[in-house]
This record gives sequence, C-alpha cells and structure tokens, in this order.
Amino acid sequence: MKVDVLLGLQWGDEGKGKVVDYLAPKYNVVARFQGGPNAGHTLEFDGHKHVLHQIPSGIFRENIKNIIGNGVVLDPVVFKKEIEGLAKFEINLKDNLFISKKTQLILPTHKLLDAAYEKSKGKDKIGSTLKGIGPSYQDKIARNGLRVGDILAPGFEERYRNLVSKHESTLGHYEFEYDLAEAEAPFFEAIEFLREFKLVNSEYLINKSIQSSETILAEGAQGSLLDIDFGSYPYVTSSNTMTAGACTGLGVAPQNIGEVYGIFKAYCTRVGGGPFPTELFDEIGVAVQKEGNEFGATTGRARRCGWLDLPALKYAIMINGVTQLFMMKADVLSILDEIKICTAYKLKDGSITEEMPFQLLDEEVEPVYETLPGWKDDITKVRSMDDMPEELSLYIRYIESATGVPITIVSVGPDRTQTILK
Ligand code: GDP
Ligand code: IMO
Ligand code: MG
Repeated sequence: MKVDVLLGLQWGDEGKGKVVDYLAPKYNVVARFQGGPNAGHTLEFDGHKHVLHQIPSGIFRENIKNIIGNGVVLDPVVFKKEIEGLAKFEINLKDNLFISKKTQLILPTHKLLDAAYEKSKGKDKIGSTLKGIGPSYQDKIARNGLRVGDILAPGFEERYRNLVSKHESTLGHYEFEYDLAEAEAPFFEAIEFLREFKLVNSEYLINKSIQSSETILAEGAQGSLLDIDFGSYPYVTSSNTMTAGACTGLGVAPQNIGEVYGIFKAYCTRVGGGPFPTELFDEIGVAVQKEGNEFGATTGRARRCGWLDLPALKYAIMINGVTQLFMMKADVLSILDEIKICTAYKLKDGSITEEMPFQLLDEEVEPVYETLPGWKDDITKVRSMDDMPEELSLYIRYIESATGVPITIVSVGPDRTQTILK
C-alpha cells in the first residue's frame, strides 16, 4: 500500500500525537520521518497522558511496527529516558521498535552548540528548544555527523572524540561556559542501551511493507510553517517538515505517497520567536491560551495564541498536497462569542494578498479578518458531525470552501475518544 502522511500545517503542536494514536489501529507501520526531541507529541487515553519526543505515536497500539526513520535526529539520552518511562506499559519495544541505522545522532556537544548559538543571537534568538537539533542537522549536511549505525562499528569512540574536538574548537569562539564531562557518562550509557534495539536499514523495511500491501502512516514533527525551506525563516527548525520530508526521511518514492492528512488547530499557536500575523495580545488570546492549556509539551513554555490564518493554511496545503484536513481543539473556541478568521494580508503598500510574502515579518503584514459566530456550547461530548452546533458546522464549511479540502476529522478534546470522524 501507499504511505499516508500525517503532518502539522501550522507552527507545530497541532495535535499530531493524538491523531496518530487514534488512527494507528488502521495501520501496520507508523514511522517518524524528521525532527527529534524538539517534538513533544501528547497522547491521552484511559485517564493517562503521555508525551513522546523520539518514539512514534503508534507505540501504545498492539502489533504495529514503529520506525524512527533516517530523517530523524536521535538523542540517545532522551531515547533511553523515554523507553524507561514506558516500562510499566508492557509494550514489546524490543520487537515493535525499529531505528534506522542512518538516523543522525545528537551528541552532548550539539546541545552545547545550540545553546551557544542561541545566546549569541541576543534578542533575535530563534527560541530553539535547545535539544541540539540545528547543530546535529548542520553536521549531517556538512558530512561530519555520526549515525546510529556507526555505534556498531569499531572506532566509534575515536570518531566521536574527533567530532567533539571540532565542536569544542567552535565553542571556544563563543562566550559560553560548559561542563562536557558531566554529560558524557550518560551519553555513553545510552549508546550501550541503544545497541539493544533493532537497528536496521529502515528504507528496506518500509519498501517491503509497501510491496506486501501493509498500511503505513508517516508521522511528521513540528509543522509546515517551521519548515527549513518554506517556514518563516530563520525562525524555523532545521528539517523539511513537509510531505517531501517523508520521502527523504524514510526512503519512500513520491509515487508511493497516498493520503496526506494535514492537521491544524481551529486557531493558531506558536512557541518560540518569529512572526505570527494573527497573534492576539488581548484578553481573548489569554483566554484561548488558558482554555487550550497552551503550554509546550517539550519545554513548558507558554504558546502564543492567535486567530486561524487562511493564507498560511492554504500555503501549507499547497506545498504538502494535503488531501484531507483534520481540525483540532475545536472545543477550545467554545468560550468565544465570535470567531475571527484571517482571509488575506494587507501589505505595507496597501495592497491585499492571499499569498505568503517572502518575509513574514509582523510589521509588514496586517491580517484582514472575517468574523463568524461562535457556538458557545460544550462540544466535548459530541461524537458525530450531525450533532454539532450549527455555528461549528458553518465554521467547518467556511474553511472547507476556502481551502477546497474536506475536513474529515474534528477533535473536541485531548482524549483519544474525543474525536469526530466524518
Ligand atoms: P503535537 O506536537 O502536534 O503532537 O501536539 P502537542 O501534544 O504538543 O500539543 C497538543 C495539545 O493539545 C496536547 O496537550 C493535547 O493533549 C491537546 N489536544 C489535542 N487535541 C485536542 C483537542 O481537540 N482539544 C483539546 N482541548 N486539547 C487537545
Ligand atoms: P511538535 O512536533 C512547536 C520550534 C521552537 C523554535 C523553533 C526551532 O511537538 O509539533 P528547534 O528546537 O527545532 O531548533 O526550534 O521551532 N519548535 C516547535 N514548536 N512544536 C514543535 O514540535 C517544535 N519543534 C521545534 O519553539 O521556535
Ligand atoms: Mg508538540
């Protein structure tokens, strides 16, 4: 079967973890294709909440192969901690989890470099999660990186030392104090731990699954507006978060991509720095943040909140080839009397555009809004499109008509069961 791709269309945290977990029973394979421990994917079921950073969100479902793809950057220390946190769930991790040998490793010095780079940027800092993502991808592209498969070969420690000495010489150019020795012992312990897992050529695993008619779901991290090429550069992450990233991040040919599920919140959030045209600085923004519990799953930072941005959503749909939309957190908007949607941008010269400008800097873009009525109703127990308040149906139809893509899932709460399927 073809590979279905599920990815975020905004600035991350759209609710990817919840939906992957919800859809996973329909699939034989769930595979992460990019990003690393900067991701925080939340799953809620049976009264428990789990946050996954490195492990694919299909892990709680039985008999599913979960793959960490070659496009991912893996921090062995975070990985070990996450696996240990799952110990009480009796999941057959040793059989169900596969890691590509081509996955890049995040070293302790990558995290130090991340912190040094951010500090040197002063007020222009990206707001990185400081998990070492950028420096690890930097080494990959510069052809210096160490990969998971390298830990199986002799001389790994020597190669590690060589790379670390390059990093230390770079760190010497920054005013930055650090203690590397402290981080190295857990790193090498975690490398030993990693050796116990199935380290594979995952491109073969996935393509054999395609050939044998297995169903495969590719799970994205971050969101399209954080994409290294098409996001609000330089306030982005360091990987291709888009559908094309699933091809390169897993070794899947473009003609083997099936459905593209684009996830978006019924409003917008962003954590970290960077432009956000529809950001709310008033009491509505605060109320949405509170109602949506908009605090980062990885860093705990408050997420900035704003109205749904259609030019940005349509852009993300275009670059990803989205075939179905999933709208998340509709329940959060139940507190509002009326809801605004940004339909276009007014530029500095007075012209109106529905396209994303080259530089999405706040001061150059003024959102043009349409106002829709709110539903002011508790929808957290609604399970069918037919039982929705009319105003919510109107909101959905408005977005479907503006984007030309059907909304096939509406999420009305964080729990697995709080999901409406069309
Ligand atoms: P991800 O990174 O895309 O997986 O999203 P996160 O897990 O970082 O953030 C989404 C947050 O919203 C999590 O706390 C989820 O439990 C929660 N969530 C997901 N869907 C819904 C929903 O429909 N309604 C509400 N209220 N919360 C949701
Ligand atoms: P999930 O998968 C939201 C943001 C950071 C920062 C920028 C660069 O949970 O949706 P990085 O650590 O990659 O150098 O940070 O990207 N960011 C995310 N924001 N959700 C994420 O992942 C994110 N991963 C990175 O806040 O602005
Ligand atoms: Mg998240």
